[in-house]
Amino acid sequence: MNAKSPDASTLDPAERLSVEELRALQLERLRWSLGHAYANSVHYREAFDGAGVKPDDLQSLADLSRFPFTTKADLRARYPFGFFAAPMTEVARIHASSGTTGKPTVVGYTRADLEVWSDLMARSIRAAGGRPGMKVHVAYGYGLFTGGLGAHYGAERLGCTVIPMSGGQTERQVQLICDFEPDIIMVTPSYLLAILDEFRRQGIDPRATSLKLGLFGAEPWTEAMRREIEDAFAIDAVDLYGLSEVMGPGVACECVETKDGPTIWEDHFWPEIVDPETGEPLPDGEEGELVFTSLTKQAMPVVRYRTRDLTRLLPGSARPMRRMAKITGRSDDMLIIRGVNVFPTQIEELVLRCEALSPHFLLELSRPDRMDELKVLVEAKDQVCDCEAEAARLQALIKELIGVSAAVEVTAPETLPRSMGKAARVRDLR
Ligand code: DLL
Repeated sequence: MNAKSPDASTLDPAERLSVEELRALQLERLRWSLGHAYANSVHYREAFDGAGVKPDDLQSLADLSRFPFTTKADLRARYPFGFFAAPMTEVARIHASSGTTGKPTVVGYTRADLEVWSDLMARSIRAAGGRPGMKVHVAYGYGLFTGGLGAHYGAERLGCTVIPMSGGQTERQVQLICDFEPDIIMVTPSYLLAILDEFRRQGIDPRATSLKLGLFGAEPWTEAMRREIEDAFAIDAVDLYGLSEVMGPGVACECVETKDGPTIWEDHFWPEIVDPETGEPLPDGEEGELVFTSLTKQAMPVVRYRTRDLTRLLPGSARPMRRMAKITGRSDDMLIIRGVNVFPTQIEELVLRCEALSPHFLLELSRPDRMDELKVLVEAKDQVCDCEAEAARLQALIKELIGVSAAVEVTAPETLPRSMGKAARVRDLR
């Protein structure tokens, strides 16, 4: 407990369950969820039958490893609504995530699912330090993306005043933050950086705003980025995690009193870590791919959904529920440069070590001569930068700490593209 811990009486009862009580609840809910999926979804009936398992085979939580995984390809194969386990008349809302290639992934919610989502987002905002009566500026995109509406209904549920700004119109973002005096901002970390540039451009001190707290997610960001943001705005920066297929934002959220990785709301989601190559379950503490099984979802239950996100499961700290370490990357974002695995987050850490460099960077991949080459484009913080010296410094850090040779080009301020939502860190020219 510290000064930032919420009053225990304001927590959800589930947040106070002991680990033993939690496991009993999870087993009961997991049984229901597998039965529901099997009875109401063609996909799960075929998948379970194909693997020779029935919902009743689950006697303990460990038995879940006998059940088949679900992948994004499984969802896409039943585009648009074939994955739903509730009649369309019961589906109250649809969201979709665009992804970089092919058809979007479509997800659906019953009214009860939307209630759970609002409750868990409210729980997340409270864990992050939000309280009823605070004003929340939501700069996640509204629309099919789950960020905007997920944050919106959660903040309302907690009893906050919501400012549904959505993404984009960066000048306007700054104006409304100054005029409406929000306490909380919810936005992707990369778009916050674009907002930060705009504050500076307008000559307004970002540390002087009313903001006290930010909930940042929808893309990987590092501890170095947390320090950068906290320092630039004089706020607490808290990590909010989620994905559309499992619900949206609010699957897990960091507690402000510890800031030690998002607490997974385990009363609704059962997490596993598996070896991304073999699919073998790994013990808590080991790094691998995060897999989720929903425990209460009606419209679109997910059984052992492969997130592609790489992390570790950690014991509870501020709450009895387990935490996940900050995501290091996605297995599909990993670049393999001449045999060395490189994640954009590793580059981010090193860019932020260089005082003269801004946090805006882009990784360019090319194959001029049958060999992959990595070029890091990064903006100087201001005009008076010795770009060549800084480039050499970053190049040496990358070689020494990641073990890969990369070309580095330090560009003038404001020359690299800005994101309005999730950052696109990699430009693949191969
Ligand atoms: O990004 C949901 C969300 C919105 C989460 C707003 C947090 C805040 P999708 O568009 O389906 O849903 O993308 C999900 O984004 O599998 C991760 O790869 C990544 N991601 C989400 N939150 C984090 C985070 C939303 N806190 C995908 N840290 C996930 C790292 C994150 N990556």
